[in-house]
Amino acid sequence: MKIFLDTANIKEIKDAVDIGIIDGVTTNPSLIAKEQGCDFREVIKEICGIVNGPVSAEVIALDCENMVKEGRELAKLSDHVVVKIPFTRDGVKATSILAADEINVNVTLVFSPNQALLAAKAGAAYISPFAGRLDDIGHDGLEVVQQCQDIVSAYDYEAEIIAASIRSTTHVLDCALMGIDIATVPYGVLMQMFKHPLTDIGIEKFLSDWKKTQG
Ligand code: E4P
Repeated sequence: MKIFLDTANIKEIKDAVDIGIIDGVTTNPSLIAKEQGCDFREVIKEICGIVNGPVSAEVIALDCENMVKEGRELAKLSDHVVVKIPFTRDGVKATSILAADEINVNVTLVFSPNQALLAAKAGAAYISPFAGRLDDIGHDGLEVVQQCQDIVSAYDYEAEIIAASIRSTTHVLDCALMGIDIATVPYGVLMQMFKHPLTDIGIEKFLSDWKKTQG
């Protein structure tokens, strides 16, 4: 499974990329807003210079014409840019137009497998069902992610599924076991994936035993 980092924070991105485990980055307007005082396009360009993989940058327009215009501008920033477009009728239409121009689109704010089917048919390169936000309203978010993956896999659509709105290491593990293409993971969750108390105890024991051999 590919792991994307779900952040616009340069420090977090540099740190995770340095470890050698990050396949891409996803941002959204809320994540960009957290990085106060930063110019959106400059941040995206900087991220693209750090990550050797796809970097999602979201359009703000809601009508097809302006989504396409914004998408084309974003795509010019770097070959790594994937234009992120919210799932609406206009968004799906804009996806078809951009995909025909060979611009990679990540259709976001997907909450049902039928939405994923339409996004796949429009030629999306990535489709992002939101697990955590579905869980928040009492649905089974990962079940929807699995259904989206099943549809894309069954018909060999070009799209890869990105499990988004990931809230825990259990979410990541379940995605990996379910065979989901990609999980986009917040930095905090990624750091938790490193931790196991038995690893820490094991290191302590190895070191203390080693010290005994040194007299
Ligand atoms: C990813 O592309 C989404 O922007 C992100 O995962 C949303 O996560 P949230 O529901 O925690 O805001």
